[in-house]
Amino acid sequence: MTDASRPERPAPPWALLAELTHACPLHCPYCSNPLELARRSSELSTGEWADVLRQAGELGVVHTHLSGGEPLLRPDLADIVAAAEAAGIYTQLVTSGTALDEARLAALTAAGLRSVQLSVQHADARANDRIAGRPSSFAAKEQAAALVRRAGLPLGLNIVLHRDNLDAVGALIELGVAWGADRIELANTQFYGWGLLNRAALLPTRDQVTRAHEAVEDWRTRLAGQVELIWVVPDYFDGVAKPCMGGWGAVSLTVAPDGTVLPCPAAAALPDLAAPNVRDRSLAWIWERSPAFNRFRGTDWMTGPCRGCPRREEDFGGCRCQAYALTGDPARTDPACAFSPDHDLVRRLSEAGPAEPPPPYTYRRPGAAPVAPA
Ligand code: SF4
Ligand code: FES
Repeated sequence: MTDASRPERPAPPWALLAELTHACPLHCPYCSNPLELARRSSELSTGEWADVLRQAGELGVVHTHLSGGEPLLRPDLADIVAAAEAAGIYTQLVTSGTALDEARLAALTAAGLRSVQLSVQHADARANDRIAGRPSSFAAKEQAAALVRRAGLPLGLNIVLHRDNLDAVGALIELGVAWGADRIELANTQFYGWGLLNRAALLPTRDQVTRAHEAVEDWRTRLAGQVELIWVVPDYFDGVAKPCMGGWGAVSLTVAPDGTVLPCPAAAALPDLAAPNVRDRSLAWIWERSPAFNRFRGTDWMTGPCRGCPRREEDFGGCRCQAYALTGDPARTDPACAFSPDHDLVRRLSEAGPAEPPPPYTYRRPGAAPVAPA
C-alpha cells in the first residue's frame, strides 16, 4: 500500500537535538531523559560527534541544541561547537548554568556558539535549589546569566512549570527580565521519563494553570516588543493534543549520548522501535529509510478518530510517547485529545487534582528509579 502523505524521500530535517551526555549536576524530578540514563563510557567521542554534525549539515540541519544532561560536563564542548560551526549549523547551548565560567564561555564563543538557553527552577533561590536537588544552583545560574549577557550572546530562560512553581510564574518572568533574557520559555511539564515517574508530585490543579496563564498573558502585553514569552500548553488540561515535535520524523531528530538516533527525546521508551545508531548507519539513511523514523510518519499509520479528523495535518495525532505511556499502544490517538476513546484517562487525572500531601520527589539520579527489564 502506498501512503500519499509519506513521500518517497522525506523533506530534510532542520533541527538536531544533540544530547551530549546524560551526566548532570542537577537532579530535577521533571526531567524528560529516560529512566535508564546512558553511561559516560558509552558516549560518542569528539570525532564521532564531529562526524554526526558534518552529516547533519549535509542533510539540511541548520540549528542544533547542544543539550544533555549538562553539556558543559563534556570537556570537548568547544570542539563540538566548532564542528557544528564548520558544518554551517547554528548552535544553542542548553545548560543548567553550573560549571560555566568566563574562560569557558570565551572558548565556546570563539568556537562559534551563537546563543544560550538557561534552565531555572524557581524565582526563589531556596525553592530553586530544592527542586533542582542541588544547593547553590540558583547562585550559579544568576552568575551564568550575567556572563552570557556580558559576552553579548542572546539569552533564553527555560522554565519547566508544575505544581511547585506555577504560582510563581509572575516572579519568574520578572527574574528573566532582571537577568536580561531575550526570550522566556514557560513550558508546562510533559510527563515522560522522570516527569512521568514524578507525575503525582508535579501535576498542578486546573486553577493553578488558569491563574498562571492569565498572568503570562498580562505580562505578554507589558513586555511586548522587549522580551519574547512562550507558553507551552499543559495538554492534560485543555483537551487538545499538541503537535508533538512538529510531527514524527518531520522536522527534527535527537541524537542520544550513545549515538542512538530518535524522532523525539522520549522515544527510547517505545517498545519495538529498533532505534538506529550513528555508529551503525549514516544519518541520511536513518532519517530517510529507517523503520523507526518511518513508523509514524505521515498519516497512514493513524488509527481511531485521527484517521478521518480534519486536524490530523495540524497536530499529527498528538504525541506517540504519551499515547504509549497512558495506553500501552503508541499508535492510538493521544489521550490528551478530547476525541480520543482514552481521553477519560487524562480527564480523571486532571479532575482528581493533586495528591495531598504531595508525595516526595524521586530525584533524577542513576539508579534512583525502577527500570523495567529490557
Ligand atoms: Fe488530533 Fe487525532 Fe484528536 Fe483529531 S482525533 S484532534 S487528529 S489527536
Ligand atoms: Fe515522543 Fe511526543 S514526546 S512523540
